[in-house]
Amino acid sequence: MPSGQEPEPEPLDLVVIPGDGIGPELVDSALQVLERVAALEGFQYRITTIDAGAGAYRSTGRALPADALGRLRAADGVLKGPVGLPDVRHPDGTEAGLLGGLLRLGLDTFANVRPMRLLPGIAGATRHRAGEIDYVIVRENTEGLYLSRGAGAATPHAAADQLMVTRVGTERVVRYAFDLARGRSGAADDGARRVTCVDKSNVLRSYALFRRVFDEVAENYPDVETEHLYADAAAHDLVARPQSFDVLVMENFLGDVLSDLGAATVGGLGMCGSLNVGAEAAYAEPVHGSAPDIAGRGLANPVSQILSLALLLDHAARPSAGDGVRRAVESALSGGGIDLSERGQPVHGTQSVTSAVCEALRP
Ligand code: NAI
Ligand code: MG
Repeated sequence: MPSGQEPEPEPLDLVVIPGDGIGPELVDSALQVLERVAALEGFQYRITTIDAGAGAYRSTGRALPADALGRLRAADGVLKGPVGLPDVRHPDGTEAGLLGGLLRLGLDTFANVRPMRLLPGIAGATRHRAGEIDYVIVRENTEGLYLSRGAGAATPHAAADQLMVTRVGTERVVRYAFDLARGRSGAADDGARRVTCVDKSNVLRSYALFRRVFDEVAENYPDVETEHLYADAAAHDLVARPQSFDVLVMENFLGDVLSDLGAATVGGLGMCGSLNVGAEAAYAEPVHGSAPDIAGRGLANPVSQILSLALLLDHAARPSAGDGVRRAVESALSGGGIDLSERGQPVHGTQSVTSAVCEALRP
């Protein structure tokens, strides 16, 4: 190399899991957007595709190839489509081929970051307008009720699952939420940086521990306001006053349920991407499932997967590319280039949305 010349940066090493149902259609959309944004931003990338999920389970007996976790850990990031086929089940009645347990625990991605933003041109389920809903749900991702996955006690007549909350697990996800709040510009209505702890500590000891640890961690962040809400009241307030939230942190199961509720207020599940993040690995995926009811029909809204890609690019140290993708989605929406039905489906098909976003990605 001639002296004085910068070495070429290594291409971004990405792994893609297309998944089941609408997964492959959505991932195809996101990859079109990636190609465009990489060309604009002038970075190279290479992609390895891994076949995983319920379809893979049905054909190979494994939801995830044996050597996959090491490969995922070594990558700069993983883009995953939703997985799951409701007719692929274990004898105990739970679904087979889901990757939540394998990936979240296997990669120790302890925080699931789920931004909820009402974007221009989108009618949410409430009377709020674009810009008035802009908060992030941080869902604990490695313990809580779902730690019991596959391990609960069951007879034909009774079944029990346990909810596990640990000090270490709570500390790290709460700290993540406060750090995230520090990097944001506060709640939509008053601009205050605020973290809301959502739990049911009025009833369950596990949630009381979660709240206690939250309060301890909060003492290290005197510049960030705190708030406590019970989960039932939070469900109400996410509909009634979403503008007052900034960052919310909660146990796994509560985060699963409340983020689908939040999604309804910002135009549906098809508008919501997420990032699963830990100390050593990260993977981005939509908050929703594989939507078998609309798979293969071009009816899925790919914005969830495209916004997941944006979160992955932020994480993989390409934040200007992530911002570029978000701006392109917004400008495609506000330019009227994306028309969604009342069910959150693109009126002119999945590809019309993808093309509108790609078109909006201009220098
Ligand atoms: P779902 O989230 O797939 O679908 C719920 C409703 O939202 C359906 O009416 C669907 O058509 C609609 N929808 C979802 N994404 C959409 C999009 N991008 N555009 C337009 N409409 C969209 O939830 P469901 O039906 O309960 O589960 C289906 C499968 O997904 C199951 O096998 C479930 O276990 C799995 N699942 C997988 C997840 C993952 O891979 N991370 C997360 C949640 C569920
Ligand atoms: Mg869910």
